[in-house]
Amino acid sequence: MAENIYPIYDQMMTRADKEELLHQHGLMVWFTGLSGSGKSTIAMGVERELHKRGILCRILDGDNIRAGINSNLGFSAEDRMENIRRIAEIGKLFVQTGIVTLACFVSPTNDVRKLARNIIGEDDFKEVFVSTPLEECERRDVKGLYAKARKGEIKDFTGISAPFEAPENPTLEIDTSHLSSEESVKKVVELIMKQKG
Ligand code: ADX
Repeated sequence: MAENIYPIYDQMMTRADKEELLHQHGLMVWFTGLSGSGKSTIAMGVERELHKRGILCRILDGDNIRAGINSNLGFSAEDRMENIRRIAEIGKLFVQTGIVTLACFVSPTNDVRKLARNIIGEDDFKEVFVSTPLEECERRDVKGLYAKARKGEIKDFTGISAPFEAPENPTLEIDTSHLSSEESVKKVVELIMKQKG
């Protein structure tokens, strides 16, 4: 905890004020899964669908965040932890503003996901495991990263040369090798509407 720092909250408008203004409730939907599993594609579909229903969303995703605020971080276990810590803190600000926040990060270990959950708070945190198998992610290889990782051109690549621990108790599990994009989006939208209609 930082020393000589005194956050003030009592004179600021509250989360409840903001949720009332927006006529919605803040929530974090945390997508975890291998690179290329479909996290961001599903999140973008969910965002479009909720937007149509008048619900304000914010997507946070690995490639964008790592190109900006987290551009000084790599893929060591330590850097991934710091990546997720910052994202969770940023995500919490959105959630507390009443915004439905869709975080799309590999977040490969139980420890990093637990960190995110602890920062955001149990009540606001829903975990969606996009469980598309490695073989399918590698077959798609949308960004060409799996080919590079196999050649040893990228080190510590999740699923190839760095671990991915499947979440034990996700709120929802979606395998996009079996479920279409539309069906996947529908499942997540249903989850969100059920939580915070
Ligand atoms: S996390 O592990 O720290 O949660 P994050 O979701 O931010 O990862 O970033 C993952 C994205 O970075 C992948 O989708 C991929 O495009 C890219 N990437 C580049 N190098 C790696 C790597 N070594 N392991 C995993 N993803 C990588």
